Amino acid sequence: MATATAAFAAVPVLRSDLNAEDRARVLEITRPTADFSQAEQFETMQGGAGTVKKLINPDIFSHPAANLTFEGRQEFMVGNGLFRKDWVSSPSSTQASDGLGPLSNARSCQACHVKDGRGTVPGFDPLERSDVVALLLRLSIPGSSEEARKRLHQGEVASLPDPVYGHQLQPFAVPGMAAEGSIQIDYREVPVKLNGGETVALMEPTYRVNDLGYGPLHPDVRFSPRLAPPMLGLGLLESIHQDDILAHAAVAKPDGISGRPNWITDVRTGKQVLGRFNWKAGQPTVEHQSANAFSGDMGLSTPMFPSHYGDCMPAQTSCFEFPHGAQEHLGEHEVPGRLMEFVTTYSQNLALPQRRNVNDERVLAGKRLFYESNCVACHVPKYVTSRDAKRAEHRFQLIWPYTDLLLHDMGSGLADGQDEGDAGGREWRTPPLWGIGLTKTVNPNATWLHDGRARSLLEAILWHGGEAQVARDRVVAMTPAQRADLILFLESL
Ligand code: HEC
Ligand code: HEC
Repeated sequence: MATATAAFAAVPVLRSDLNAEDRARVLEITRPTADFSQAEQFETMQGGAGTVKKLINPDIFSHPAANLTFEGRQEFMVGNGLFRKDWVSSPSSTQASDGLGPLSNARSCQACHVKDGRGTVPGFDPLERSDVVALLLRLSIPGSSEEARKRLHQGEVASLPDPVYGHQLQPFAVPGMAAEGSIQIDYREVPVKLNGGETVALMEPTYRVNDLGYGPLHPDVRFSPRLAPPMLGLGLLESIHQDDILAHAAVAKPDGISGRPNWITDVRTGKQVLGRFNWKAGQPTVEHQSANAFSGDMGLSTPMFPSHYGDCMPAQTSCFEFPHGAQEHLGEHEVPGRLMEFVTTYSQNLALPQRRNVNDERVLAGKRLFYESNCVACHVPKYVTSRDAKRAEHRFQLIWPYTDLLLHDMGSGLADGQDEGDAGGREWRTPPLWGIGLTKTVNPNATWLHDGRARSLLEAILWHGGEAQVARDRVVAMTPAQRADLILFLESL
């Protein structure tokens, strides 16, 4: 196998939070390993000191980080309740839970982030179709007019919404109001032949919207399907030092790979900040994305997104005639700032499970193949988090997320044609791979990639194109036994 040995080069540590001595230590400990005869030190503790050593069962993604303080745990518990709670439309008898909609994608966070893991796309079998909940269709149109380009340029919006339907399609609405439409997914089988004789059928999706509630979509509208990702270790990803992420963007990696940061506008400060979350790194922090979810997915106002009407557009006049759920005695938002803090603490502190079988011979062989195939150019194995992280539990932790949080051209097969901030239509953020081996333990119907099209880890790899084409082709060329070892390594994460 033609390997990419330069993948083993260390990336310089230029961090402003460390002194020279610490920088040298961090460089040493995050240097990609070249020894695959045994596991590395601390490798089982993929989420640092917060890693949990709990029984592997369907609740394994739902534990608080092991090192969370007593106060942190109290907030986490309240946040957990809010994450699970079903919101209802106003007015209702349960006043503290109302305000849902008028348009929405779901009634609770966990309806999409199933057991804190990823969401489910409806059956690949056309006979088993059900409502599409956990998969959002983001909508955007090209920035053709002068004014539209200006709004984009100034970062006022990350993409231009459909003029009638807004930034995303909401398939549900409060009683008395029309929903926006229903999503239909059709799959076409694309066979891929692997070395050794096996053929894998990839499923290529196309999307249609039926039952449009407000007239036609814009003729140039583009759909970007997004499946709810797992919620693990998000506070740790937030604590990776920005200088480390930019250092990876600054070096040219083997196979012509170069990651790009997504610079986006912070809605609160108007400043340009580094995007880290969501499939195109379109949100800078866990708090931003959580508030964005309350607004876009459930139509609930927060201090960050104060409209009570979520993604309702001016053209949807009836939307603004429905009562909202803000109550004077609780403040001006349907989800007051204090509750938002609990949800954020919860979302930041879901623990990574301990890794399994790290010293198994085949897992180690698979790990070597992962390095030698240059998967590590994007799925960067480890970091030491910032000394300046907001929470003490997240500071100076050795973590193993297998991501660079950067954007990469992934080829036309995965392209959605939709821009988001600096991210282009063929670009996606490298998703973290930690915890990925327990995906189906938590949600047996879960699938992979931004739109859930991959039914197995191998299918997910075979969809890689663009900058990852060479790495993907190495997997196709492997012997069946090598491919099985690579998958065993992923399953140990
Ligand atoms: C309708 C389904 C749905 C609901 C409801 C939902 N989410 Fe999400 N969530 C998603 C999708 C889809 C993404 C990825 C979005 C993207 O790529 O643009 C996401 C991403 C996230 C992320 C970023 C994760 C990462 O790894 O980048 C966080 C944090 C998050 N959601 C929190 C929440 C919270 C908190 C709630 C409840 C207030 C919530 N979500 C409700 C579907 C949902
Ligand atoms: C050029 C950067 C790059 C390289 C090289 C790369 N990946 Fe990825 N990987 C990505 C991106 C970006 C995605 C998300 C694509 C999407 O969802 O459309 C991804 C997704 C995945 C997923 C699915 C993750 C999920 O949460 O659904 C797996 C598994 C994976 N990669 C494994 C590998 C393996 C194994 C290799 C080496 C053979 C590899 N990748 C090489 C960038 C890369």
